[in-house]
Amino acid sequence: MVTMSRLVQFVLALIVGLAVLAWAVTGFVQETARQWFERDLNLRARLVATGARASLAAHWYADQRQQLQSQLTEITHDERVMAVAACGLDLSTLASTPDFPSEFGCREVGPQVQSADGSSNPHFQEWNAVSRLPGGSIHVSAIPLWDADRQFGFLVLLQDLSYAERREARTRTFLLVSFGILGVLASGVTIFVARFSRRNWSAELRRMLHGDERRRPEFQPILRDVRDLIERVMDEREDAPGVWTAERLKQTLSLHLHGERVVIVANREPYVHERFPGGDVQIVHPASGLVTALEPVMRACSGVWIAHGSGSADRETVDRNDHVRVPPGEESYHIRRVWLSPEEELGYYYGFSNEGLWPLCHVADTRPAFRGEDWAHYQRVNERFANAVCSEVDSDDPIVLVQDYHFALVPRLIRERLPAATVIMFWHIPWPNAERFGICPWRQELLEGLLGSSIVGFHTQFHCNNFFESVDRYLEARIDREQHGVVKRGHRTLVRPYPISLEWPVRWLAKAPSPVECREHVWRDLRLKPDALLGVGVDRLDYTKGVEERLLAVERLLERFPEFRGRFSFLQVAAPSRTKIERYRQLNDLVVQLADRINDRFGEGDYRPIILLRSHHEPPDVFRYYRAAHLCYVSSLHDGMNLVAKEFVAARDDQQGVLLLSQFTGAARELTEALIVNPYDLEEASTALATALQMPPGEQQVRMRSMRSLVAHFNVYRWAGEMLVDAAQLRSRERLTGSLADRATRNAAAK
Ligand code: G6P
Repeated sequence: MVTMSRLVQFVLALIVGLAVLAWAVTGFVQETARQWFERDLNLRARLVATGARASLAAHWYADQRQQLQSQLTEITHDERVMAVAACGLDLSTLASTPDFPSEFGCREVGPQVQSADGSSNPHFQEWNAVSRLPGGSIHVSAIPLWDADRQFGFLVLLQDLSYAERREARTRTFLLVSFGILGVLASGVTIFVARFSRRNWSAELRRMLHGDERRRPEFQPILRDVRDLIERVMDEREDAPGVWTAERLKQTLSLHLHGERVVIVANREPYVHERFPGGDVQIVHPASGLVTALEPVMRACSGVWIAHGSGSADRETVDRNDHVRVPPGEESYHIRRVWLSPEEELGYYYGFSNEGLWPLCHVADTRPAFRGEDWAHYQRVNERFANAVCSEVDSDDPIVLVQDYHFALVPRLIRERLPAATVIMFWHIPWPNAERFGICPWRQELLEGLLGSSIVGFHTQFHCNNFFESVDRYLEARIDREQHGVVKRGHRTLVRPYPISLEWPVRWLAKAPSPVECREHVWRDLRLKPDALLGVGVDRLDYTKGVEERLLAVERLLERFPEFRGRFSFLQVAAPSRTKIERYRQLNDLVVQLADRINDRFGEGDYRPIILLRSHHEPPDVFRYYRAAHLCYVSSLHDGMNLVAKEFVAARDDQQGVLLLSQFTGAARELTEALIVNPYDLEEASTALATALQMPPGEQQVRMRSMRSLVAHFNVYRWAGEMLVDAAQLRSRERLTGSLADRATRNAAAK
């Protein structure tokens, strides 16, 4: 029998022993890992130099310094290589990448590389070292360059070693946690054995196996640890390479950006509280591609979404800080509502944003209107949102995701107040060519505002190129196309394409009825004949969406292919949008007239070729239509991405249905198995409608499967993850460059 005091002594000795062991093992593992990392970087430096040797030699001998510099820049596209310089036999610098720190220049590093073999010819040997800086360490390598058996110079490569320090810190935490768990387990087992030796151990064991651990509090810590362990293992399985999930995005945030919460600034809020006739308040999900994409990201990351409080019951539902926790029932983040006066809304939202910038950026034959008073409101509202950001953040280097054309000035306003902030601006609509952009009287202010960002993202490379051209034409700034950057007054902005997407799986599908049931409901609601064929379109009623062209294509189909008369109906779900603007009201009237005309011409009895639903529909209804239809036609005249196309694909887990997609959408570059059409060409579009209606199920399946796999793989978690990883990389490079500059200043002052 074991006495209590002997037991306590034993457990204490065990814990001390394990702590000593943990300290020794952690030190050993850390040292070994560091040697591995350094050896790995030595090897990478050697491989880089060997790989580039032949073409470097060619430019070297031809004295093509420009090409030499381009090649060095190419080398820095490797995520760890930060800067490179090429040095000659006489230790002169032949070329180097921009911002190469002078303290690692050819003359400074040269003496370490020169071999002391006593010969009169210069001769170099490989040299590697680590320079420790406050922002993280840098690995420096000097690698001799050979042409056949002759040396012609050497390369100096600076590589980021901070990732190794991060991994070391993780390994250390992991080992300490493991030893901690081991300690708890070992003490638990000791207590368990000691107590069971006194009691009927088989009865105790049986009780535990039956889950009755509540009666044995001493086992709870062990069971909790075991449960945590199982949960971690399950999470890691989900995080398989290549698949982005909400969980993986969360981990990316905590790994690369130390789990900082995210602040989103977007005009439209994801949950609008509306008071309906009869008095009850309901939550409405607005029809907005931006919201569809960003909301799942926010749920994964948590933080705050700053938006205009536009709902009729929004003021009643906030706390005294104008916050409301969402999503209802889950409450993983909060919305901060900003209130706008009717004049502000008219000038900033309807005026400058939607009568100025929206038509400016879309090639859809509507003239932009630029009015001075709208611009003044736009500036003031941008300032109010920047103030809201500053009041919501809890550090001087927050991560702020600014969304869209409503807030072109916000990045610069944030940068002025929080110079160390990481500001990611995503422009959800197209960027026009420089000539068109130039018609905006405030083009310079808009560009300067955007260049306050760390990253400016567009959906396509084409829009990035247009942006570069606009900066080139209207600002004094250096464009670094190789590094995808713009440098203005020493501040660098990365400009890259990040094609947006959907969460995967889409949450509305979890409770959606099967496609067969959806078809039954929809057929009943729309009073369709059993052998009817249905096409669907879902849009805000906006002139960029090509709704008129779509209806005309249906009319042309019925003219050219009489077999579809009486059978094919097109359901257009059209959410009213921006109705205070005359052009939108005109469009509404035009679409109604057009639908009436086509229905008069081809309708008969209950049969209507065009079914127009002009009201807002909540996502479950929209998904019901997607799942019921035979085809979906997205006919935008110009569109940054268009998420309706991706939603239709996501909805079709039966792998059936055909997507017709305008060639003028960003989505057409990704969803190449859709039937791609020019919506202005009614012959082509009506032929594509007929092809879709006659497409055999086998071909539908092949096309749909391929598009689904693309949307699943390139989902919105990946979209956000890639931007955050790029931002983290920028942050660590800036920190290191900052540390180098500080050191150079200190050294200069000391001399
Ligand atoms: C586009 C814009 C979004 C906007 C959405 C809906 O997708 O890029 O910023 O939210 O249209 O428009 P609305 O004016 O209703 O917010």
